[in-house]
Amino acid sequence: MSSSILVAYATRSGSTAEVSESIVAALREAGLWADLVPVSKIESLQGTTDLILGAPLYIGKFPRDFHQFLAHQRSAIAKMRTWCFVLGPTRREPADFDAARKQAEQQFTHYPWLHLAGLQIFGGRWDASLLPFPFSLARRLPFNPLAKVPGEDIRDSTAIHDWSLAIAGQIKHAA
Ligand SMILES: Cc1cc2nc3c(=O)[nH]c(=O)nc-3n(C[C@H](O)[C@H](O)[C@H](O)COP(=O)(O)O)c2cc1C
Repeated sequence: MSSSILVAYATRSGSTAEVSESIVAALREAGLWADLVPVSKIESLQGTTDLILGAPLYIGKFPRDFHQFLAHQRSAIAKMRTWCFVLGPTRREPADFDAARKQAEQQFTHYPWLHLAGLQIFGGRWDASLLPFPFSLARRLPFNPLAKVPGEDIRDSTAIHDWSLAIAGQIKHAA
């Protein structure tokens, strides 16, 4: 059976979208074509055989549109092979990665029907100037508590590339 691959992501300040683009590029390098669509724009998953989901963590949770997508597309997704990558930690501390994994696993307890073929945590980006609403409101405070937090981008292009190629291998093996 030929595969039809979709990378579907939620993002609030853009970093998960950029990682999703890198995954599509790596799959292409491996000879696989994948569509790239934000979850909020997906109406139907007809024809998709392999799904790669991406979501960031905000205060321990996935964005609302990501949850809505999983709930609405449950019957279609349950039939697909599905991987998920999660952006979270913005410091290279193993404890932060462990905490993000626990948060992601907790979020997926809402979907016991979803059996992921892989769950990967990637480092994320912290940039106080790109904070999504309502966190962006902090900038209006007379004393902005976030102003002094230095920007950080610990997205690891090698880890993202390797993970994508590993998935490409699994998809090709099953084809
Ligand atoms: C207000 C705020 C809360 C966050 N909460 C968490 C969290 O609970 N756990 C975590 O691992 N990362 C957390 N992060 C880090 C984000 O997941 C990270 O910045 C990610 O790259 C954002 O993705 P996006 O640019 O696609 O929205 C938080 C970031 C912000 C700005």
